[in-house]
Amino acid sequence: MKLMFSPLFHLLLCCAAQAAGVEILSGTDVTTDGVIETELKKTVSLVCQNDSNYDPQDDGELVWLRNDAVVSLKDENKKGRSSVCVAPIIHEDNGAIFTCHLSTNTTVRASVTLNVTYQPELSGSENVSVEEEAHLVLQCDIRANPPVSSVSWTLNGSKVDLLAGGFTVTTDGFTSKLSTNKAEKNFHEGTYQCLANSPKYGEQKKLFHVTLTAKTMKFPLFPIITGLVVVCLTAILAIVARWKRIVKCCTK
Ligand SMILES: *[C@@H]1O[C@H](CO)[C@@H](O)[C@H](O)[C@H]1NC(C)=O
Ligand SMILES: *[C@@H]1O[C@H](CO)[C@@H](O)[C@H](O)[C@H]1NC(C)=O
Ligand SMILES: *[C@@H]1O[C@H](CO)[C@@H](O)[C@H](O)[C@H]1NC(C)=O
Repeated sequence: MKLMFSPLFHLLLCCAAQAAGVEILSGTDVTTDGVIETELKKTVSLVCQNDSNYDPQDDGELVWLRNDAVVSLKDENKKGRSSVCVAPIIHEDNGAIFTCHLSTNTTVRASVTLNVTYQPELSGSENVSVEEEAHLVLQCDIRANPPVSSVSWTLNGSKVDLLAGGFTVTTDGFTSKLSTNKAEKNFHEGTYQCLANSPKYGEQKKLFHVTLTAKTMKFPLFPIITGLVVVCLTAILAIVARWKRIVKCCTK
């Protein structure tokens, strides 16, 4: 997220989040409870206005906060009216609270919260190759706002038979995982699909083309090499130790 300032801000401002003294205006809709709904990569422009002339002594200087952090503003963007621009919108902006208050009285404030909606990032297809009898794990990223309402897995076009395939499906707010401990060509080869249903964006899906390869013999090369090195070192040390003794004997 980058914060920019647009002093020449002439958007049609249709909605506002208001509190005594200052109000926040935005080119985007603001709900009555101060939420602005937006999407990834979009731009949100906010204008804070000190509309009350609430304290004649006050120079009307305004302060912007993003959550609890102060947003640095140019001097000419502080007095009476101040604008910030959030662009591009990223995942981390979801739930971010933008607050504007008088620099002289922090209780004179207004806030808006961003609601960044996004679809689950599921698309395309992936080729997966596993050895027979190995673990097979397929994973889909189902993070979305609003959260997906359902996730389903198919194999060759029909619903995955958990029992027959020895499959486990675990789904949390972030990922849906289909796995089986022991992959077998007859049961597990084929085209899988995970399908997530978003209440806002509809169906999103991803394909996996799974092929099973013959099991290869695993030759434990590394332990063998380590073993040999240890044996050799021990032998050399033993000889060295004995050699010293032998030499000592001879020089007596
Ligand atoms: C700040 O503003 C509030 C609400 O308008 C007011 O009650 C309070 O007296 C002000 N505080 C100061 C220090 O001016
Ligand atoms: C954000 O917007 C979505 C879509 O309109 C809605 O379902 C969700 O409840 C909103 N979340 C918040 C925290 O307002
Ligand atoms: C899925 O379809 C492929 C290609 O037609 C086939 O080779 C495979 O055996 C099928 N998988 C299952 C589990 O039926």
